[in-house]
Amino acid sequence: MADLSVNFAGIKAPNPFWLASAPPTNSGYQITKAYDAGWGGAVWKTLGIPTINVSSRYGATNYRDTRMAGFSNIELISDRPLEDNLREMREVTKRFPDHATIASLMVDTREEWIDIIKQVEDAGAKGIELNFGCPHGMCERGMGSAVGQDPVALKAIVEWVMDAANIPVITKLSPNISHITDPGLAAVEANTDAISLINTVKSIVGIDLDTYAPYPVVDGKGSNGGYCGPAVKPIAMHMLKDLKQHPLIKDTPISGIGGIETWRDVVEFILLGATSVQVCTSAMHYGFGIVREMEAGLIKFMDDKGYSTIYDFAGKALPNITEWKNLNLKYDVKAKINEDKCIGCDLCYIACDDGAHQAIALPTDGSRIPSIIEENCVGCNLCSLVCPVEDCITMQQFDDGTQHETWDELTESDRIPNTWNDDRAGGKGHYVPEPSMAFDTVKKDKSGARTK
Ligand SMILES: Cc1cc2nc3c(=O)[nH]c(=O)nc-3n(C[C@H](O)[C@H](O)[C@H](O)COP(=O)(O)O)c2cc1C
Ligand code: SF4
Ligand code: SF4
Repeated sequence: MADLSVNFAGIKAPNPFWLASAPPTNSGYQITKAYDAGWGGAVWKTLGIPTINVSSRYGATNYRDTRMAGFSNIELISDRPLEDNLREMREVTKRFPDHATIASLMVDTREEWIDIIKQVEDAGAKGIELNFGCPHGMCERGMGSAVGQDPVALKAIVEWVMDAANIPVITKLSPNISHITDPGLAAVEANTDAISLINTVKSIVGIDLDTYAPYPVVDGKGSNGGYCGPAVKPIAMHMLKDLKQHPLIKDTPISGIGGIETWRDVVEFILLGATSVQVCTSAMHYGFGIVREMEAGLIKFMDDKGYSTIYDFAGKALPNITEWKNLNLKYDVKAKINEDKCIGCDLCYIACDDGAHQAIALPTDGSRIPSIIEENCVGCNLCSLVCPVEDCITMQQFDDGTQHETWDELTESDRIPNTWNDDRAGGKGHYVPEPSMAFDTVKKDKSGARTK
């Protein structure tokens, strides 16, 4: 059976499923409960300087019937006394010597960094994570994302930490920056042992329509929050990929964070090069038990594919992610409707006619099944994405696979279209109805019969 154990920059753990520094890791009680449930590691809720929290402090974007598709918080680092956290950390690391109990830290001066590093090392922490991410509160005091957004300051602090620490150091990056490789490179140049990302995305999740205050509301006012949960997973994966493809960063171990909820999410992050993952929102939403599905799913995936350890497939998706200019312009797919599965809801027709390329026709024979007008279809995928029936609309390859030509190659050989009438221009020859034809749209009357 698959071996899930990891050695992440020298931090060993029975599996790659770690809790991210956040409310689920606020106490020794919670981390003990999480390890008992199957988590292989936990990054303790960030320790640092005394803080005061506000109430309320969480908000969410609910998407239709999905609660917390995105989650937001304006919480600061741990407000519990440092000595309580250290006492509990000592107890947890003694009871679980083989788990990755990591201390997340955020302080200001060099002396404060040296002092707190010594204290968490004495408490048995297996590693240190540097929180350069909080996009509210702490950044106003020059910490958190204020450091994550300033590669020069970040590099200086990582250097202080590397001088002082005797255990592995993970630099946790903020996504609130244009090029994640800038702070990533600064961390690597300062010799960080590893990187983790992402922390939360600066955001406003909604406005109260009676008081006009943003959520979460604190006595009639609000502040920007940090966004996380399933909604941020694509942003996190893109940033992970950017770091893992950078020649000077790619060999640094990365712990992937952002919207991870299922075994499939875990596999995707590993395929992009992460060798441990961290979870916050889904543990807050569903509790520690979600790790059981992650573990069973990851083991099944690895057994099915014949992988013994996660290192056998870590980063395997990276060679397939390239720049747009390297994609094959000769690859040609078109939509195909499976008539046996179609329920006649017309969603594909509406989407293609209003939002794409007018390449779907409604039936005129009294049936309910639309048809693809192949010569109009540009293969954009929209209809297959809106179709509510799994695998009802699939994309079929129309080219014979023999031709390969990219924008980069066209540019190199001076063959790119340079006028709108150039026969080589992409949209030339595509069918586009005349504006007046908008009034001719086929409509249904109440009885279901189709009338003009
Ligand atoms: C309520 C809340 C508090 C958080 N507190 C911290 C913190 O103290 N330190 C830290 O590094 N990250 C903190 N985070 C960020 C998480 O560790 C994580 O990076 C982020 O939530 C993305 O992961 P997710 O999508 O699984 O939630 C917090 C997140 C939430 C929702
Ligand atoms: S793939 Fe795009 S263009 Fe083709 S039928 Fe579907 S929505 Fe229309
Ligand atoms: S969206 Fe799917 S199910 Fe609905 S009409 Fe189109 S093909 Fe049929």
